[in-house]
Amino acid sequence: MSRIKKYTTYNYFILLIFFVLFGCNDNETKLYKIGFSQCISKDDWRKAMDHEMQVEASLHTDINLTVFQANENIELQKKHIEFMINNGFDVIVISPLRPEPLVPLVEKAYDKGIPVIIVDRKINSEKFTAFVGANNIDVGRNAANYIASLNEKKANILEIKGSDNSSPVIERHLGFHKIVKSEASLSVVRSVKDEEIEQRMPQILDSLSVKPINFVFAFNDDIAYNAWKIAKSKGLEKTIKFIGVDGLNGSNNGIDLVQNGVLSATILYPTGGHEAIKIAMKILRNENVPKNNKLNTTIIDYRNAEIMKNQYDRINKHQNDIEIQQDRIKKQEQTYSTQSNILKVLLGLLIISVLLAAFSIYSAYNIKKKKRELEIRNKKITVQRNQIKKIAKEVKISNDARVNFFTGLSHEFKTPITLILSSIESLAENKAIKDSKLLSEVGLIFNNSKRLLRLINQLLDFRKVEDRKFILRASKTNLYQFSNIIFKDFEREAQRRNINFTLSTNNEDLSVYIDRNLMDKVYFNLLSNAFKFTPNNGEISIEIQDKPDSNFVKIHFKDSGIGIPKKEMDNVFLAFFQGSNNNKASSGIGLHLSKEFIEMHKGSIEVISKHGAEFIISLYKDKAHLSSDEIIYEADMVDSSLLNSNLDYEDDSFTEPLVVNDEDNYSVLVIEDNLDLVKFLRTKLSAEYTVHFSDGTNAIEKALEIIPDIILCDINLPEKSGFDICEILKKDLRTSHIPTIILTALNNKESYIKGLESGADLFLTKPFSFAILAQSIKTLIYNREKLRYYFVNNVHSIDDSSSFGSMEQQFVSDLNKIINKNIDNSKFSVENLANDLNISRIQLYRKMKAIMGVNISDYIQNIRLEKAKNMLINTPLTISEIAYATGFSSPNYFSTSFKNKFNKSPKAFRG
Ligand code: FRU
Repeated sequence: MSRIKKYTTYNYFILLIFFVLFGCNDNETKLYKIGFSQCISKDDWRKAMDHEMQVEASLHTDINLTVFQANENIELQKKHIEFMINNGFDVIVISPLRPEPLVPLVEKAYDKGIPVIIVDRKINSEKFTAFVGANNIDVGRNAANYIASLNEKKANILEIKGSDNSSPVIERHLGFHKIVKSEASLSVVRSVKDEEIEQRMPQILDSLSVKPINFVFAFNDDIAYNAWKIAKSKGLEKTIKFIGVDGLNGSNNGIDLVQNGVLSATILYPTGGHEAIKIAMKILRNENVPKNNKLNTTIIDYRNAEIMKNQYDRINKHQNDIEIQQDRIKKQEQTYSTQSNILKVLLGLLIISVLLAAFSIYSAYNIKKKKRELEIRNKKITVQRNQIKKIAKEVKISNDARVNFFTGLSHEFKTPITLILSSIESLAENKAIKDSKLLSEVGLIFNNSKRLLRLINQLLDFRKVEDRKFILRASKTNLYQFSNIIFKDFEREAQRRNINFTLSTNNEDLSVYIDRNLMDKVYFNLLSNAFKFTPNNGEISIEIQDKPDSNFVKIHFKDSGIGIPKKEMDNVFLAFFQGSNNNKASSGIGLHLSKEFIEMHKGSIEVISKHGAEFIISLYKDKAHLSSDEIIYEADMVDSSLLNSNLDYEDDSFTEPLVVNDEDNYSVLVIEDNLDLVKFLRTKLSAEYTVHFSDGTNAIEKALEIIPDIILCDINLPEKSGFDICEILKKDLRTSHIPTIILTALNNKESYIKGLESGADLFLTKPFSFAILAQSIKTLIYNREKLRYYFVNNVHSIDDSSSFGSMEQQFVSDLNKIINKNIDNSKFSVENLANDLNISRIQLYRKMKAIMGVNISDYIQNIRLEKAKNMLINTPLTISEIAYATGFSSPNYFSTSFKNKFNKSPKAFRG
C-alpha cells in the first residue's frame, strides 16, 4: 500500500517537472486576435490594403491577424463580423461595402466592448472606435483643383463615378463639384457611373450636342485607364486628359499610367492598411486613439511620378528586406524554439536521470538496510533455532535418560519377581506347606507377584509399542481353543463371585493367524477389566461369531458391569485414560495396548455400552494381510503350558524335577552378578549339575579354567557385557564348543539379534520359567552329545576340505594333522600337541573331553594304532618297523597296546 503511494508521489513529481519545463511560460505574451473584414477582393488597391495590414501585423509578435474576404457580398461580410464578435476577437477592423447594412453589427460589437476600426469607407453610425482613411472630399477637390491649375480655357469634364453608394463615391463627387462650381473654366459635361462607360462614353465622345470632352475625372485609376482605352479607340486619347484616383505603384497602376502618359494625374488615395493595424495595437495597449485618423492625399503627375515611384520602390524594397529579415527571424525563432525544446527535453531527461539515480541510490540503500535487517533477523532465528534444538536435545536426552531409567528399573523389577515366583513354586511343592493353612497365603503371594509382573510387563510393552519395537509373530491358532485356555484361567474367579461366565462359538474349528503372546495379553486385559467392573452375580461372556460370507471373525467380550459413559467412549483406547466412573486403580494403558496389538494384526476393536460394556474385536480369517516375516510356525495348542512358552513368565504350572541319568555331573558356569538369582540357580541346578559361578569380573578366566559343559550368562554385568563375554568365548578355540545361554531382562528385537550375533545358542528373557531354563540346558547338552557322536564317528574324515565349517571341525582337523605329522615320533607328547595348538595341556584335555568325550592321550594312541592296523594290512613292513613308524618306543609296547585295543596281537592280526 505504502509502496503504491510512494510511486504515485514519484509520478506526480515527474509530471510537475514537465509542467514547469514545458507547460507554463510566463514570459510568453498574450496573442491578440485581430480580424479584418475586407469588402472587395479583386483589385490591386484592396490587395495593397490587405498586404499592408499583413506586413504591419508581422512586425508585432503578439498579434494574430485574420483577413475575411466578403467579395462584394454584403451578407457574407455580415457573417464574418458576427463570427468575429462571437469568437473572442480582440479588435475588429472593417472596410464596409456600404454604409447602412453593417450598422447593427458594428454597434453590437462596439456595445460588447470590442474595439472596431473602420477603414476607407464610412458607415452611418458613430458607434465605432476609430476611423482610418483619407478625406474623399479632399480627393474630389484635389482633382478639380488640378484641372483648374492646368489653365485650360475651358475644361469640359466627363465625371466617371464608382457604381455604388459608398462614402468615397459620394464624398469625391461632392468635393469635385464644389471646386468645379467655383471655377468658371471648369464644367462637368457629363457624370456617369463606371459600369455605364462602355456603353455611354463612346456616345458622349461622338455626340455633337455635347461639348467636346477634354478632361475625364475617373474615381479610380482603373476606371480612368478603361476610359482612356475607349478614347483611344476613338483616336481621342491625346485630346483628352485623364485624371484618376488611388496612385498605386506597379504596372498599369496610377503612377505607372502617369509615367506612361496615359493619365495626366492620379490623386493619391492611401489604403490605410498600416495605420489600421497600428491603431489596433494602440487600442490593445490601452493607448489613447483619436476617433478620426485622417490620411494625407496628394496629386501625382509627370512632375513627381518619378519620385513617388522611386519612393514606393524603395519602400517596397525595404518592405521586402523586412520580409526577408522577418523570414530569417522566423526561421531563427523556429530553430531557437526547436533548440530550446530539445534543451528542455534534455534538461527534463537530465532531471529525470538525476531523480532516477537518486531513487536508485535510495532504493539500494533501502534494500541494503532491509537485507541487513533480514540478516539480523535470520541470525536471531538461527540462534533461537539452535537454542531450541539444543533444548530439545537436552530434553530428549533427559527424557531418554528418564525413560531408560524407568525401563531399566522395570526390567530390574523382573529379576526379583522371578525369584519370588520361583521360590513360591518351590514352596508350593513342599508337602509341609501343602498340608498347612499357609498354602492360601502362598497363593496370595503368588497371585500378587504375578499381578505385579503383569503390570511391569504392561509398562514395558507400552514403551515397546511407543518405540515400534514389537514384531508380530503370528501362527495358525484355533481361536476357540485359544480362547478356552484363557477362559479357564478366569473360571475359578467367576465361580467364586457367582458370575455367569460363558464362552461360545458358532465354529469350533476356525483357525486364525494371531500372535498368541500379544493376543493373550489382549484377552487377559479385556477379561480383567470385565471382572473388575462386573459386580458379583453378574454376567460376562466371550462370543466368537464366524460369519461364513465375511473375511472377518468377531469376538465379543460382553459384561454387565458399570459400562462406559457415552461421551467418554471415544477416549477409552487413549493411553492413560481413566473413566470418570472408574474408582478402581488402573494404569490406563491396558486398552490402549490392546488396540495397538489388534491393529498390528490389521484388525480393529470397538466398544459399545448399553447395559455394561461390550468390546468387539474383528480379525482377518486368512493370512493374506500378513507379510511372510510376520508368520511363524507354532505347534497347535494342546495344553496351556505351550501357550506360555514365550519369553514372559505367565504360567502358574509347577514343573516336575529334572531326572538325572548321567553318572558324572555336567558342569555349568553361571555368570551373574545378582546374588539372589545366583542363590536361586545354585539351589535349583546343583541337584544335577556341578555349578560354578562368576560375578562377571573374571568370567573369561573362569570359563578357560573350568571349560564347563554349558554357560549361563547375564547381559548387564559390571565389566564386560554378556554379549562381549559370549563373543570372546565363542571365538576362542578353547571355549568355542561350549553351549551358551544368555539370560537377560532386555526383551527386545535388537538384544535378541545381538545375542545371536555374539554366538549365543539360546536367548532367555527374564523372568524366565525355571522349567524352561532346565529344559533348555538339557536340550543344549543333548545336542552337544549328538555333535560329539558325530565327531567321534567321523574323526578321520574331518579335514580342511570338510564341508562343516565350525571352529570345532577346524580344531579336530588341525589336531589330526599335527598328530599325523608326528606319527612316527615316539617322543611326541600331549604337551607338544597343546603347544602346537596354542592352548594349555589341561585346556586341550578338557576340550577333547567336551567335544569327543575322550582322553587326549588315548586319542593320540588310538590314531597311532589305527595307522598301524592299516600298515599291517597294506604294507609288507615288519611289526617292529610298523611299531617305530607309528611312534611306539618299543615293539613290545606296540604289541601290548594293539592287543588291548583290537583283542589280537599284531602278529595274529596279520595272520
Ligand atoms: C477600390 C476602390 C478604390 C477607391 C476605393 C474607394 O475598390 O474603388 O479605387 O479609391 O475603393 O473605397
